Amino acid sequence: MKKQSELYSGKAKTVYTTDDPEKLILHFRNDTSAFDGEKLQKLERKGMVNNYFNAFIMQKLQAAGVPTHFEKLLSEDESLVKKLDMLPIECVVRNISTGSLCRRLGVEEGLDLDPPTFEFFLKNDELHDPMINDSHILTFKWATQAEIDRMKELTFKVNGLLKALFADAGLLLVDYKLEFGRYQGDLLLGDEFTPDGCRLWDAETREKLDKDRFRQGLGGVVEAYEEVARRLGVELPEVSA
Ligand code: C5P
Repeated sequence: MKKQSELYSGKAKTVYTTDDPEKLILHFRNDTSAFDGEKLQKLERKGMVNNYFNAFIMQKLQAAGVPTHFEKLLSEDESLVKKLDMLPIECVVRNISTGSLCRRLGVEEGLDLDPPTFEFFLKNDELHDPMINDSHILTFKWATQAEIDRMKELTFKVNGLLKALFADAGLLLVDYKLEFGRYQGDLLLGDEFTPDGCRLWDAETREKLDKDRFRQGLGGVVEAYEEVARRLGVELPEVSA
């Protein structure tokens, strides 16, 4: 598989075309961003940890019947994926109240959400990713009704699978964001699943072990990601001295 030109560079990943028109290479960089790119920092090893973390989760989901774009690990910070036609939508499920839900609705932090909430957001940095609903998606043709139904079905399926996976590792899956794209008539899970796009708390102490450490300046960001990876059994390469 030969890397060709840069297709797109996001806040934490760069996407490259390959000699196969159906495949792309994702490069997980050390760059870390928050607040729509207002806070930026390079964190040593983050690209590598997220690449291995994402591969582990995507393979678990694929094996459990959630179709994903993931193909294989290529190097410490690169993975091969199927080229999707991405929908401009983010799907967020929340099991515990925190973050923008509390800011928007004035609800207390840390409540168990039963049933979990489901929200759509429009991917648009300039507009700060506004919340949208099914009606907006249909009117502006961002996705079809069948795709809306499939995104909800798959996002909730991921919740059942990952809540259990993280619970076995002594972690609470607080909330997470997924993105989907079209591929040969199907909808596949795209983008990534890493602690950059979800919230994970220690089940006993409720210590934050995700990107909120960066957003809130708590320090130990990559160390927390590595701790989560270690608890899940993700094999990371040895750190060279
Ligand atoms: O900020 P908010 O509380 O809405 O975030 C909900 C979840 O979605 C969090 O896990 C957050 O990391 C993730 N998210 C994301 N990318 C965004 C917005 C939210 O990964 N652009």
